[in-house]
Amino acid sequence: MKIIVTGAKGQLGSDVCDALTSRGHIAVPTDIDKLDITNGSSVMSFFESHIPDAVIHCAAYTAVDKAETEKDICTLVNEKGTENVAIAASRYNAKMICISTDYIYGSDSSSPLEITQNANPLNHYGLTKYNAEKLAAKHCDKLFIVRTSWVFGNNGANFVKTMLRLGKEKNELHVVCDQVGSPTYSYDLAELLCDMIVTDRYGTYNATNEGFCSWYDFAVRIFELSDLTVNVTPVTSDEYASIAVRPKNSRLSKASLDASGFCRLPSWEDALSRFLSAL
Ligand SMILES: NC(=O)c1ccc[n+]([C@@H]2O[C@H](COP(=O)([O-])OP(=O)(O)OC[C@H]3O[C@@H](n4cnc5c(N)ncnc54)[C@H](OP(=O)(O)O)[C@@H]3O)[C@@H](O)[C@H]2O)c1
Repeated sequence: MKIIVTGAKGQLGSDVCDALTSRGHIAVPTDIDKLDITNGSSVMSFFESHIPDAVIHCAAYTAVDKAETEKDICTLVNEKGTENVAIAASRYNAKMICISTDYIYGSDSSSPLEITQNANPLNHYGLTKYNAEKLAAKHCDKLFIVRTSWVFGNNGANFVKTMLRLGKEKNELHVVCDQVGSPTYSYDLAELLCDMIVTDRYGTYNATNEGFCSWYDFAVRIFELSDLTVNVTPVTSDEYASIAVRPKNSRLSKASLDASGFCRLPSWEDALSRFLSAL
């Protein structure tokens, strides 16, 4: 298949391009330097010149805290950008995978969230990603919506890299312990997206590495596996002020993946260990 990948220089997009190529597909990578997805006519021309079978849409405005003060640009990229991609995919009868986020849910419960759970985004980024899902669905029939969380990968900034940097600079860190979810290795998620794109099992999916932890648990494990001695103190979200509000519960149920016969991802501990070895 010939598959356009937006956000191809980002964490997930770069791994998606590698995974597609290694499976014998033709990946057409694009990022903001080549194609600004907020420009609808440029997006349409790009599709016209490549005539893809599918698009895996990884491009997004992803700076969650900054989005609270840069609402317009976050909205433009995530909503208008996604709509432009969906319109072009539909025009060329291409399948589309739209990557979304746990931040659309905004739940305080402690049970795993099903895809049918009501959306309740607590921050602007989450709101734009939820609106993006609806815009993609409005235009594109051959659509997979994949909600993921806490992504780490080789290309780009993420929590693991931040902890490794801080762990070398400081002996003591405070990390939030009352937000629980699943870290997700972009390499593993990319493999699942490759499994999906060759099927017609369209729909909405939660997809993360298996198992749940808090950011505190995640940090402790990063330091254990990296042989860094850091005293990590658990703190609550109230004690650790961040600009954007984040949900306490990001545990995502994988029932929809199971029901459609897609394989779940490996455990987050296994993924973290492979990521650190590859760094
Ligand atoms: N990171 C997470 O923890 C997380 C969690 C849940 C869901 N997600 C979702 O997963 C997907 C991939 O995330 P990621 O971590 O791989 O993000 P990322 O590393 O930030 O990559 C996103 C890419 O999109 C590009 N981009 C931004 N604006 C664009 C525009 N107007 N036109 C074209 N490209 C543009 C970015 O370029 P610049 O870097 O130059 O801006 C970047 O290369 C996104 O949909 C994100 O919302 C991520």
